[in-house]
Amino acid sequence: MNAINTSILDTLARIVGPSGLLGGSDMAPYLTDWRNLYSDGAALAVLRPASTQELSDCVKACVAAGVPMVPQGGNTSMVAGATPDASGRQIVISTQRMNRVRAIDTMDMTMVAEAGVILKTAQDVAREAGALFPLSLGAEGSATIGGVLSTNAGGNTTVRYGNARELMLGLEAVMPDGTIWNGLRRLRKDNTGYALRHLLVGAEGTLGFITAAALRLFPLPREEAVALAAVRDEEAALSLFRRFRDRDESAVRAFEYMSAGSMHLVLDHVPGATLPLAQRAGHYVLIDLASSRPGAELRALLEEVLAEAMEAGEVLDAALAESGAQRAAIWRLREEHPEGQKLAGASVKNDVSVPVSKVPEMIRRSSDALRALIPGSRPVPFGHMGDGNIHMNLAQPLDMDAKAFLERSHDIMDCVNEVVRELGGSFSAEHGIGRIKTDMMESWRGGAELAAMQAIKKALDPKGLFNPGKVLP
Ligand code: FAD
Ligand code: MLT
Ligand code: ZN
Repeated sequence: MNAINTSILDTLARIVGPSGLLGGSDMAPYLTDWRNLYSDGAALAVLRPASTQELSDCVKACVAAGVPMVPQGGNTSMVAGATPDASGRQIVISTQRMNRVRAIDTMDMTMVAEAGVILKTAQDVAREAGALFPLSLGAEGSATIGGVLSTNAGGNTTVRYGNARELMLGLEAVMPDGTIWNGLRRLRKDNTGYALRHLLVGAEGTLGFITAAALRLFPLPREEAVALAAVRDEEAALSLFRRFRDRDESAVRAFEYMSAGSMHLVLDHVPGATLPLAQRAGHYVLIDLASSRPGAELRALLEEVLAEAMEAGEVLDAALAESGAQRAAIWRLREEHPEGQKLAGASVKNDVSVPVSKVPEMIRRSSDALRALIPGSRPVPFGHMGDGNIHMNLAQPLDMDAKAFLERSHDIMDCVNEVVRELGGSFSAEHGIGRIKTDMMESWRGGAELAAMQAIKKALDPKGLFNPGKVLP
């Protein structure tokens, strides 16, 4: 290690103490992304500050020494956004030790949580106080408040509560020069010039470091009803969504689509996964209704709408959860989708969105195009149909080498994106850009939009030390 590295590490060790600085093999879990796409990650050190002040001091020291920094929360990024490159020059800064819920207020319906609070913990703390923090996604046991805000995560309940951005009222952050910005305002209305808080949300750690957030809470549901339905085709799934939305939009907490391709990988590969229907089908939807209104009669609503849709030939079969355990079992089938694909070999993810009305066309056209591109490949579309975000993923052909398949990743993404572009959609709905999709930014966001992003980056982080190589080409 050269003298400059030794001196910056000494400085950082003085700021965070011995338990706050990791090196050698202790760094391993911080260097590889969840999908294992980049196993070449190397870092000068992993830093785990315990407070906003410590983090600010560390950032100032790194800026003075010209050391690039990679913010990391739960490291569940689907686009390799939270891991360092192979240079060994970057420092990973983890929020693991900044994990306090600072305050909760059930009159204002707000919670102030530090960046390292695990999403599931935030949900539990809110529930114990008699309120709901509604953001929900498969990685909620590991993903953090700082991470979900930095990626503007969506997940299962966007259709009802919006993305992470809509659940955020204010932020505290360490800016790229190390200054602490306290914007933890808990206001529903705050029009005071450019909204810095909204710039940091979705910036994937390229414009500063979120250290805490003021979050919105909601009333806890008094009634919940969940069903898994086998449906005729993609159009029938969409029509069923419309039936529920037209009957009681406020009751639809989640509406998730799962193709046979994706559901059957879960049933075939995830231990203990069982289908609560008489037989396998070509398409499935999970309907989740919830209401805080007493006497909402959601069970009756679920039965009525499913019966109407059955009569119309759209729904072929349905299982209605009779207990909390059955609700959880149906949800587990959906949440194991990423794991099912991981267990079934290599897969390429296409996290795309289109206007809700175009979802069936997008799924059909993309699936056909993918099969033609790579014969024998298995399209596994599934996801958040109610908000137009489908994971148009592709599993490798059974007889193809995984590495050879992954080498085609960009062809596969381009193939889906072509259809998505024609339908007025986006190439990145909820996972972000990270390291994987930077080369798509020019063609999708080039011109005024990308120029403004680059100017903002330059203004806030002139040395380019915050998460370099991510988001911007
Ligand atoms: P990390 O992965 O650690 O980081 C994500 C990005 O944010 C990186 O660019 C990192 O540098 C930056 N960052 C992290 N913390 C901070 C901070 N405090 N300040 C500034 N920048 C920071 N995503 C969805 O949107 N919807 C889903 O339904 C969904 N399902 C998933 C299911 C599974 C099984 C998995 C593994 C992932 C899923 N994801 C989903 C993706 C992932 O969980 C989200 O992107 C999540 O928001 C990342 O949180 P994290 O704490 O793990 O962040
Ligand atoms: C999910 O919704 O389960 C993830 O965001 C999708 C994925 O793994 O592609
Ligand atoms: Zn998703």
